[in-house]
This record gives sequence, C-alpha cells and structure tokens, in this order.
Amino acid sequence: MASHPGRGKDDQDGAADEPVTSPDWDWPEDEAAAETGADPAAAAAAEPTAVAPAAESGGVRVVHEPAVDDPDDEYRWHTGLRRPTGMPDAVEFIDTHKAFGRNEILKGLNMGLPEGMISMILGPSGTGKSVCIKHMVGLLYPDQGDVLVHGDSVPTMELAPLLEMRKKFGVLFQDGALFGSMNVYDNTAFPLRQHTDKAEDDVRAIVEQRLDEVGLGNAADKFPNELSGGMRKRAGFARALVLDPSIVLFDEPDSGLDPVRTALLGELIKEIHADTMEVATREKRDHLPAFTIVTHDIMTARRVSQYINVMWRGRIVEAGPAEELFNSENAFVSQFLAGAARGPLGMN
Ligand SMILES: Nc1ncnc2c1ncn2[C@@H]1O[C@H](COP(=O)(O)OP(=O)(O)O)[C@@H](O)[C@H]1O
Ligand SMILES: [Mg+2]
Repeated sequence: MASHPGRGKDDQDGAADEPVTSPDWDWPEDEAAAETGADPAAAAAAEPTAVAPAAESGGVRVVHEPAVDDPDDEYRWHTGLRRPTGMPDAVEFIDTHKAFGRNEILKGLNMGLPEGMISMILGPSGTGKSVCIKHMVGLLYPDQGDVLVHGDSVPTMELAPLLEMRKKFGVLFQDGALFGSMNVYDNTAFPLRQHTDKAEDDVRAIVEQRLDEVGLGNAADKFPNELSGGMRKRAGFARALVLDPSIVLFDEPDSGLDPVRTALLGELIKEIHADTMEVATREKRDHLPAFTIVTHDIMTARRVSQYINVMWRGRIVEAGPAEELFNSENAFVSQFLAGAARGPLGMN
C-alpha cells in the first residue's frame, strides 16, 4: 500500500465530504506502461508452454510454467450475468476501465445500482470498490467506458452540472469523516449551510429530525472525539441525509464496528431506506432512493441487501436480487457469499 501515493488521499480525509473542484489525486498516468503491462498475459495465453526463441539472448529459455494471469482463467467465474430487477439504474458503469500506472483496477466493469433498492457492491478488499464510488461522484475519471448517474454521463460533465449532480449523493465515508473541530450539530448542518440558503430555523428542523432518526438526538453538542465509533458513523449518516439525496453510498459501514453495532447500523439503514421510499413515493419524485453499501462483509449483505453485485478483478462476477445470488451455482459467488475457505478465491 505504501507504494501508492494515492492512499494518503483516500476516503478518510477530513474534507472528503465536500465537492473537490480540483481533484488532487489525479495522478499522471503512464498509459504506455498500462498497455504493455497487459500484453505479456495475452501473449502467454496464446502459447502457454512455448519454448522461447534463443536468438536474442543466446541461451535457451524454456517457459513451462502455466501463465499466472491467463485471461481465460482469470474470468472463468465471471458470467457477468445481471439478473433483472425491473427497476431503472440510478448509477450505471458501462465497460469502465481504470488503471493507476500499470495497476489495472477496473477492467471493463459493467454494473448497475437499481433505484428503489438497497444494493451492495461486494468484493474482496483491494478490488476497487472505493474507486467505483469516486467514479460515481466524479472524483476519478475512467480511462475508457462510461459512468452514468440517472442516465447522465459523469465523465463528460462540465464543472457546474457536475457540482449540481453531486448533490444527488449522500456519502458515508469509512470513519464518518466528521470535522473534528465541530460538534455533531454543526457537522450535520454543514452541507445545508454550504449548499443551500436555508434560514437557520429550517436548518435546525432538518438537522434535529436527522439526528433523531439516527438516535443522536441527545448528542448534538458532542464533538467527534467524544463519540464511539458507532456514533460517529451514525452522525456521518445523518449528515449524508440532510440534502435529501436520491443516492446514498456507504463505504464499508461495518468496518471497525463490533457485530452487534454492525447489525444495528444495518437495521438503521433499512429503516431509513423504507422511510425515504415512502417520502419519494408520496411526493412522486422522479427517482426512488438508491442506497448502496460497499463492503466485504457477508453478514451485512445477508441482512440488509436487496440486490448484490459481486465484484472481483475489476469486473462483475454476477449480479442480481440478493436471494437469487445467495442461491447462485457460480462457484466464486457461492464461495464468497458463504465465506468458505475452499473455492476459486485463494490467498493470492
Ligand atoms: N488514487 C489512487 N492512486 C493509485 N492507486 C490507487 C488509487 N486509489 C486506489 N488505488 C489502488 O486501487 C486498488 C483498489 O483500491 P480500493 O478501491 O480502495 O479497494 P477496495 O475494494 O478495498 O475499496 C488498490 O490497489 C489501491 O491501492
Ligand atoms: Mg474501500
């Protein structure tokens, strides 16, 4: 990890919740290196046990090892199947590619996050789940392919529509990403003060309602360092909701929480999704709320999710309604969803 300069700029930055007008993790990318990086695998796949020509080196080099990155093997479990939900996608990745230098992260990702559902992006750590979130809000740009939010292409947006589009999102970052110098009330009020010109009375009504919903009605004047991990996440959740977003993203909401707190947070996500569904339906909004939880935690997937995207090696292995995926016959999917040691997913 230390070899990636980008890590220091990851989700947990204190200011991560604010629109970043000039993303400072836009690293110079060595496209030539990324391209040549992909070639040897393809070549090896074509002739897996070739005897290398001795001409240039002067000696005979016998290549007997099976190609480690044989593309046929790599995607053996990826049917890419997307079982239908009948709902339009709030966010859609279309053949999205993204590499950092020669490190290819997204390799032709096709993924949808349906409206009106709690969906998951589930995959081993380091797969690129957080990278996906950053593409949705225009903090990272794909090398190839597209990312659509309510049908609009994010990578081609000018700055003004991009900033407007970001208001559709509420994001709960891994540790809540609260401002340490503000109490819970001011943290929660921050997006309203920043992005709207609501009077302080209206701000107060919204903040108090959201803090009550997440069970922090009595903690409004506490500072982040006075809160437990679970409370910090709930405060981050309240703040993610104040602008009434139609897409809410939770990046690893279960990390650092004990199993009981994780279960309670999952229940809270379900309750609030049900409430926002009711409001959106009653008010006949254009889009039903899409909640998306990014995690590698299977228990959360089992308890909370209605739709699951299983992601591995930069692509979707399979996706669909949760109960169908939990019964999937795909060896990778069933290994991963069962948390089993035996199966296609190994230590490497
Ligand atoms: N800005 C960046 N620059 C370089 N590499 C990055 C950057 N962001 C993520 N990565 C790399 O992309 C890979 C996937 O990261 P991430 O999306 O955080 O995984 P996870 O699925 O655990 O959320 C990791 O190998 C990480 O080091
Ligand atoms: Mg992550």
